[in-house]
Order: sequence, then structure tokens, then C-alpha cells
Amino acid sequence: MPEATILGIETSCDDTCAAVMTGGRLRSSVTSTQTEHADFGGVVPEVASRAHQRLIAPVVEAALREAGVAADDLDTVAVTRGPGLSGALLVGLSYAKALAFGLGARLVGVDHLDGHLASIFLEEDSRENGRPAWPLLGLIASGGHTQLLLAPEAGAAPRLLGQTRDDAAGEAFDKTARLLDLPYPGGPEIGQRAAEGDPAFHRFPRSRPGGGGDAPSYDFSFSGLKTAVLYHLRDVGDETERAAYLDRHRADLCAAIQEAIAEVLVNVLFEAAEDTGSADLALVGGVAANRRLRAMARQRAKATGRRLFVPRPEYCTDNAAMICAAAHRRRHDPSPGGAERALTLDADPGLTLAAAGTQKQRPAPPAR
Ligand code: KG4
Ligand code: ZN
Repeated sequence: MPEATILGIETSCDDTCAAVMTGGRLRSSVTSTQTEHADFGGVVPEVASRAHQRLIAPVVEAALREAGVAADDLDTVAVTRGPGLSGALLVGLSYAKALAFGLGARLVGVDHLDGHLASIFLEEDSRENGRPAWPLLGLIASGGHTQLLLAPEAGAAPRLLGQTRDDAAGEAFDKTARLLDLPYPGGPEIGQRAAEGDPAFHRFPRSRPGGGGDAPSYDFSFSGLKTAVLYHLRDVGDETERAAYLDRHRADLCAAIQEAIAEVLVNVLFEAAEDTGSADLALVGGVAANRRLRAMARQRAKATGRRLFVPRPEYCTDNAAMICAAAHRRRHDPSPGGAERALTLDADPGLTLAAAGTQKQRPAPPAR
């Protein structure tokens, strides 16, 4: 029997993405990042929906063309059904529904966060180093989420160990970048400039919210960092003095901010790895594209004898290859497949990946 060909579609935020995968092998991945939002300093939901409407057909066509696949050859259409912006999700979902229904293909709704976690399976080098094994501890750090998840076994719903109590890690980059007069999205801007700066220029706070009692939690909090940067700049002086200060020290501030965010993410990830006895770790989501964070996490993994799986940068930020990978990994899941599924699948902007009733559990350390 020939191996199934999957078309993946991702439109949960401001990237319009499509990809094609056959039998677990990626054949194409096309991402069109919407530039309309830069003028607004953030993603405007209605603008995103309209741009997805304009881009979805050409992006899907480009993915099929690059893969050398005809629409008739598709067995499955996999689409992000949440979490994300509802209008944006609906554009991808409606397109996927119509396509799957017309072709008689299977329609599979994918959780965006499950997609981010599956992105580690796209990597050739993860195969060379052996496949990631369970239990797998995953940190998703993106513009919308910062979640630490423990996946007990393949296919089982992961347990949420910790998450941000305010801003996501990507938001921390985006909001502090804005204070430094850098364009949206701020993460790549800060990452680029930080390479020229001194991370020890200023020590910004590394907040670790408590878990009640003495125990620290695995939760994150980044809103204090944003405030600290705001106050730091306010204390410099008037607008002219601030502009001159930024001209002189923008790269240093970028490096100091990046260091604070990366250190907290890596500390929490490896603390949880120690407590749960996890040997295999995944670092995914847009923020995982950050070079300093990747280097810091790799170094810590090496020092503690753990295997760290980080996708290449283009599979960290939103893409449809990861949606194909998630659908491929769940290809044996019992689900009401068939064209009729195309009529009933709904978008769910608030979809959560973690198993119900497992919110923020700090597991008991393993017996030694
Ligand atoms: O996963 P993603 O593409 O979209 C969401 O699901 O949110 O993540 C986007 C976030 C943005 O906040 C962006 O600033 C951040 O990831 N990001 C980065 C880098 N590239 C993207 N943050 C730090 N360094 C980067 N190189
Ligand atoms: Zn994402």
C-alpha cells in the first residue's frame, strides 16, 4: 500500500502556512509571514484573517507544486483547529474542510501546541541521535504560550507542569523590543542585536513565581521584566537623553534582556528535568529559534547528560510542516475519518493540549 500523503495547513496567527508530507517524509513547507502587522506593533486579528484569505490558496498551491503532488493524490488534509485567533483559524479550517470534502480526503484537526511538540520529529539529526523517547519533557515557548509539559508516553495527553502567569516568553521579547523602539516581531530583532551587546550590561529580574509554601513552581512570569525595562529607560532622563542612550546601548540592552529570558526558561526546564527524571527534552516554539537560548540549553543538556531536541529555526516559528508531523504521528488514532468529518470539525481558539485536571502539578521527585 502506498504511504499516505498529508497536506498540512496552519493559520492560527499571522503566518499562512502549508506543507506536504508522505509517509513521514517532508516534501515541502511554505510559510508566508504577514508583514501588514508591523505598522501596528502587534498582530491585528481582523487584518490577519483578511491576509489569510488572500494568501491561503496561493500558499497551498505553492506547497503542492514544490512537493510535486497533485491535489488528487492527497489522502489527508491536516489543519490547525486551535488555539489561536478565531477568525484566522476559521480561514484555514474552512479551506481545509472544502478541500477535504471535495477530494473525499480524511480531515484531521490538529492542536497547534501538539504541532509545536511534533516539530522535533521533523529533524534529520534527531533520527541520527536516536528518536526522542518517553517520558518526554517539553517546553513550548512562543508568542502566545509558555508551557512546560510532561508527555508520559507516545499518544497520551501531556501533563501541564507549569505555564506563564502573565506574558508569554515571545511576548516578553516583543514588548521589550517595542520599548527599545524596535519593530514587531521583537524576538528576532533582539536576538540579532544581542550578538553585538554585553549580556552583563545590566541585570534584569529573573522572576520565579512561588508555588505556595516553600516550593518554587514551574510557572513563569515575564511582566516584571517588561516593567523593569520600562523603569530602566525612564530613569535615564528626558526623551532626548533616552534616545541617545538607546543609540549607544541598544545592543547591550538586547543582550541583557535576552539573557534574563533565556536563563529563566533554561533554569525551569532543567529543574523540572531533574525532578521528573526526564532524560529527553524538547525545546520548541518561536522563541526556541533564539540562538542564545539554544546554546544555553544545549550546554546545560551536555553538562547534565540529557538529550535535547530543538528543531531548526524555521520549524520553531509557526509552520505547517509541524502540523503534518503531528497528523502523521497520530495517523493510527481512532478518529471518525472520512469526508463526512469535514462538515462537523470546529475551530477552538482556546484549545488546551494538557490532559484535563492536570493543571500545574509539580510531581514528586523520583526515588533515588
Ligand atoms: O511559535 P510562534 O511563531 O507563534 C506563536 O505560536 O506564537 O512564536 C512567535 C514568537 C514571537 O513572539 C517572536 O518574537 C518569537 O516567537 N521569536 C523569537 C525569535 N524568533 C521568533 N524570540 C526570540 N528570538 C528569536 N530568534
Ligand atoms: Zn506557534
